[in-house]
Amino acid sequence: MRRLVIAGNWKMNKTISEGLELVRQMSMELKDVKDIDIIVCPVFTALYSVSLEIEGSNIELGAQNLFWKETGAFTGEISPVMLKDVNCKYVIIGHSERRSIFKETNEFVNKKLKAALKTGLIPIVCVGERLEDRQMNKTFDVISDHINGALQGLSADELKDIIIAYEPVWAIGTGRNASPEQAQEVHAFIRKMITDNFGASVAEHLRILYGGSVKPENVEAIMAQPDIDGALVGGASLKADSFVQLVRLCLPQGC
Ligand code: PGA
Repeated sequence: MRRLVIAGNWKMNKTISEGLELVRQMSMELKDVKDIDIIVCPVFTALYSVSLEIEGSNIELGAQNLFWKETGAFTGEISPVMLKDVNCKYVIIGHSERRSIFKETNEFVNKKLKAALKTGLIPIVCVGERLEDRQMNKTFDVISDHINGALQGLSADELKDIIIAYEPVWAIGTGRNASPEQAQEVHAFIRKMITDNFGASVAEHLRILYGGSVKPENVEAIMAQPDIDGALVGGASLKADSFVQLVRLCLPQGC
């Protein structure tokens, strides 16, 4: 049985005080939840304060990006060691906004993934097709390319420590989510790729999250799919009530 993950990707939102207010409410209202990994991914400037606020709670900390070097002349970047230093356990890598706006390639994603693993951070690696890819029936080609590119050179053993997030670009921030069946189809495809390349036991263990306009109204139907092991949530993670509701709907008795 794979443990569910609900991760909030705050993107470029929330000052320190706003972030603290949000996690305070979340941790109060979710303190009884034991069966789900609950993660928040604030902006870099809020990471340390949020880490202190959630210390001892069931909410864990992730960052939204990193660079693959430990230190050096890389103006504006942040290293895996620095993320560990502010108590991060997870890091999102290869989000579609990084790929499209900041031109991150599969090669970048692969280097970042390896750097995260080397430092003991758990990567949440994002893959997903654009609307035009789907319309041209290229969804599976894009997913294969993203998965092969991201995981190049990794061992089966290393795969045990990563999380994959399938996020169709056309569903992110648009209010238009993939149907549960569309999402399941891609999740099953990813799990099959992992089975073929790394073996059945690694694939069975791997957690694959869905992301793209997940909200309380659609989370149960999405989570009911056999290969969907949680969600990466943007907009609905910015308000305590929607995030709390969403997590509660995913509790084993809830779905
Ligand atoms: P959304 O974002 O839930 O606002 O669509 C998801 C994401 O980009 O991770």
